[in-house]
Amino acid sequence: MSQIQLLDPSRKGREAEGLETRLRHLVIGQDDAISKIVEAYQGFRTGMSPAGRPVGNFLFLGPTGSGKTRVVEATAEALVKDPGGVVKIDCAEYQHSHEIAKLIGSPPGYLGHRETNALLSQEALNRHHTEELKLSFVLFDEIEKASDSLWNLLLGILDKGTLTLGDNRRVDFSQSIIFMTSNLGAAEMSALGAPRLGFHVACSGDDTNKAKLNGKITTAGVAAARRRFTPEFMNRLDQIVVFRSLGTPDLRKIVDIELDLVQQRIRAAARDNRFFLAVTESAKEFLVAEGTDVRYGARPLKRAIERLLVHPLSNLMASRQIRRGDCIRVSHAQHAPTLLFSRETETEQAWGVGCQAA
Ligand SMILES: Nc1ncnc2c1ncn2[C@@H]1O[C@H](COP(=O)(O)OP(=O)(O)OP(=O)(O)O)[C@@H](O)[C@H]1O
Ligand SMILES: [Mg+2]
Repeated sequence: MSQIQLLDPSRKGREAEGLETRLRHLVIGQDDAISKIVEAYQGFRTGMSPAGRPVGNFLFLGPTGSGKTRVVEATAEALVKDPGGVVKIDCAEYQHSHEIAKLIGSPPGYLGHRETNALLSQEALNRHHTEELKLSFVLFDEIEKASDSLWNLLLGILDKGTLTLGDNRRVDFSQSIIFMTSNLGAAEMSALGAPRLGFHVACSGDDTNKAKLNGKITTAGVAAARRRFTPEFMNRLDQIVVFRSLGTPDLRKIVDIELDLVQQRIRAAARDNRFFLAVTESAKEFLVAEGTDVRYGARPLKRAIERLLVHPLSNLMASRQIRRGDCIRVSHAQHAPTLLFSRETETEQAWGVGCQAA
């Protein structure tokens, strides 16, 4: 008698699971975007991506500072170990035909032909390939600002996965994921949450309210995109992801990520004289409070960290108050306008807050 075994199509491969875990570590609160990226990656790994087009065409909408660009950098960081491993095009910079030549190079015979290194050449796409992974990440930022000629170029890439350069060479995008970002509709979206409750209710209200509001925000975002972009463009997208606005619980998690990055900067900057940070919970709370402005996502938090932590640290380094191997404790006293820095000279454990491992 034959046996029927039910299979589980929701289970992913090890690599895709690894990517998902890494991304969730690096990007907070945008699980929808993460799962779409992981799906595309899984398709690429199994060779099941559709032929003759990019591996994925994604449009990311949503408020400023919510992680749209970050999730792309984080994908490159997770897969090719380099957050800069992304070919990034700021659409606002390519308004005129001579600027488009920076992207695709100029035809042979034109003045300056030899000097132009097309930004979208095959070499540029392949530059970040590794032995294990021949996949590129291309980001078109602020696409609502693209000129008509850039749009045409983009439509060709999204549809056929190819681009013809000024000198007629062809660039193949079938091993690329194309990301596009836009703030389009962000005002309408924030107006949905803002008037009565504060936009941040999307992150701090109860779960049903949160889900409802996020649903409305997504619908508003997609509607704004449909109004602004042509049907040809919308039809070429695999996914439109609307990013959530970040709330205090998200910022609490992001502060830890950012503090890790500060420690990495110390490691790179101080080289042989590196020291370690131990940031208390009260100091983190203070940074989050100083860095919260729901309109601007995580950007004010990053600025608060620069102003309240990194600048004072550089002063301490320059005035040689910090020495090699020190554990610098960063704390905060209630109502104080700044952080408190002190040095642990004996053992790191004495503080009760472990120094971050270097
Ligand atoms: N969801 C998030 N998780 C972790 N860090 C985040 C997140 N959102 C923003 N950040 C931090 O804030 C910075 C700015 O975010 P990002 O550049 O991704 O914003 P954006 O959504 O692309 O905004 P804009 O529409 O203005 O381009 C990031 O570099 C990252 O450090
Ligand atoms: Mg961005």
